[in-house]
Amino acid sequence: MNISLEGKVALVTGAGAGIGRAIAKAYADLGAEIAVAEIDPGKCAELRAVFPSAEIVEADVRHRAAVERVRDRIAERFGRLNILVNNVGHHLNTFKTLDEMEDAEWDAQHDINLRHMFLVTRAMLPLMRAAGKGGSIINLSSIEGFRGCPYNVAYTTFKHAVTGFTRAMALELANDEIRVNLIAPETTDSEQVPLKHIIKPGMEEIANRMLPTNRYGRPEDHAGAAVYLATELSSWVTGSEMFVDGGSHNQNIFKRTPQGRWTVMGVVTDSASAAD
Ligand SMILES: NC(=O)c1ccc[n+]([C@@H]2O[C@H](COP(=O)([O-])OP(=O)(O)OC[C@H]3O[C@@H](n4cnc5c(N)ncnc54)[C@H](O)[C@@H]3O)[C@@H](O)[C@H]2O)c1
Repeated sequence: MNISLEGKVALVTGAGAGIGRAIAKAYADLGAEIAVAEIDPGKCAELRAVFPSAEIVEADVRHRAAVERVRDRIAERFGRLNILVNNVGHHLNTFKTLDEMEDAEWDAQHDINLRHMFLVTRAMLPLMRAAGKGGSIINLSSIEGFRGCPYNVAYTTFKHAVTGFTRAMALELANDEIRVNLIAPETTDSEQVPLKHIIKPGMEEIANRMLPTNRYGRPEDHAGAAVYLATELSSWVTGSEMFVDGGSHNQNIFKRTPQGRWTVMGVVTDSASAAD
């Protein structure tokens, strides 16, 4: 099995932090040429120091002109693209009920979680076709794309739509032998989900035990999945969803009792008679 990415060109959007950054590093470690579209100028400067040979383009992927600039830079420098990771996405902290949600907030969720995937993928397709057969597109969805998450209906809705986009594109690009898959992360320590500010000090062990794998995600967990989906390890996989979630999708409503058993009943933690 060849998991080297020598000779491959990979674009990762939003690689300035978190999951995108970990994916870019993993691909670079495997020998890929890296291109990045990143909105934050400070992060672009950091990336240029960390990946001196990469093509780092300061760009907001929500805008067509910026995306076309990224495409032109990749075309000039490499003339092709083998791997596209549509990583940008954000919950935007709009945690409110639907009746409280403003039109502009709904549109902003669409722009940051779905529309850019259309803009970037459409712009990059000629370069991916120029790379020949065997390309891979990887879309970052969320576990919220597979369950009903209240108080951020727009985020949940557009992450669900990433599944439709992925599945339809997998068929549309089948004749080009470009595979299209998605990664669905559960809560993962990153800039937009900083666990040290979310979990109260001293509560880490209890919080971690909520997941079957006894911890929340790290950006590197998703890099492993993105390596699998970009290399020939996954050459027979397209239109699929990879849950990188510590087991939470399968866990469903099961909770761990203090005794370490799984129950669908409420877990009482302030009494010796916890549900078991
Ligand atoms: N972290 C989690 O718990 C979690 C859970 C589920 C899904 N996800 C998904 O994983 C992906 C990555 O999340 P993360 O937590 O690593 O993100 P992050 O916020 O830590 O990093 C995102 C990066 O993208 C850049 N960026 C933001 N908007 C951009 C734009 N318009 N154009 C270009 N660059 C832009 C940011 O500057 C930053 O460098 C997202 O799609 C997110 O929805 C994350």
